Amino acid sequence: MENPQNIRLTKNDRPTPINEEIIIPDDQVLISVTDPKGYITEVNEIFSQISGYSEDELMGSSHNVIRHPDMPKIMFKIVWKHIMDKENVMAVVKNLAKDGKYYWVVTDFVTRVDADRNIINYTAYRRPVHDKVKQAVIPLYKALCAIEDVAGMDAAEKFLNNYFEERNTNYDDMVEDIIVKNCEKLEDLGFGNHPEEEIKKMTKEKKQSFFNKMFGIK
Ligand SMILES: Cc1cc2nc3c(=O)[nH]c(=O)nc-3n(C[C@H](O)[C@H](O)[C@H](O)COP(=O)(O)O)c2cc1C
Repeated sequence: MENPQNIRLTKNDRPTPINEEIIIPDDQVLISVTDPKGYITEVNEIFSQISGYSEDELMGSSHNVIRHPDMPKIMFKIVWKHIMDKENVMAVVKNLAKDGKYYWVVTDFVTRVDADRNIINYTAYRRPVHDKVKQAVIPLYKALCAIEDVAGMDAAEKFLNNYFEERNTNYDDMVEDIIVKNCEKLEDLGFGNHPEEEIKKMTKEKKQSFFNKMFGIK
């Protein structure tokens, strides 16, 4: 679908958040596609339904209309860095619906490129997350938001880099670890008694298809 010239909804259109969660049915994948600048060009019905905005309202809008204030800015900086480098990335995200309620998703961001490696579009595939996954990221996101409030995003980035260094990990591995540790579907997907170890041994491409399989993406 064509991206209209005028940007529709932006962060200025965000509602006041209310402390009520929208639970996403287990088997749903909330999909949106953007042009290379990040303006929405396509959504599926369930994304529109859960976010509370009509497909028409979302077309040409920026995703920051659904950015929840509990989400640290640095997380999106990391996402954008990956996808602009044409690397797929996963993130655990709390989103803001039109009525002010929130919903948690794990999002697989995928960059599509043409034969010359020019970016065609970005797609986000969002699945509901297990409670344990939310509990694993909430303290980190709270700390990052607090740092951003008082000292800005650069300070939050430094904190995050130290956090990873101390744990000898990085963003991708951390998200993967949280998801894998808390995923109850591993056995259904044919992994043995030590799925975490088996997954660690997999190549990046295999992992990608594993996550695609886990998230129901063809
Ligand atoms: C394909 C795609 C999907 C996105 N999905 C979301 C989303 O679900 N929630 C969100 O807050 N930001 C999402 N973003 C990131 C936004 O573009 C934006 O960077 C973020 O909301 C932070 O807003 P800000 O850059 O104005 O601070 C997405 C970006 C892309 C390219």
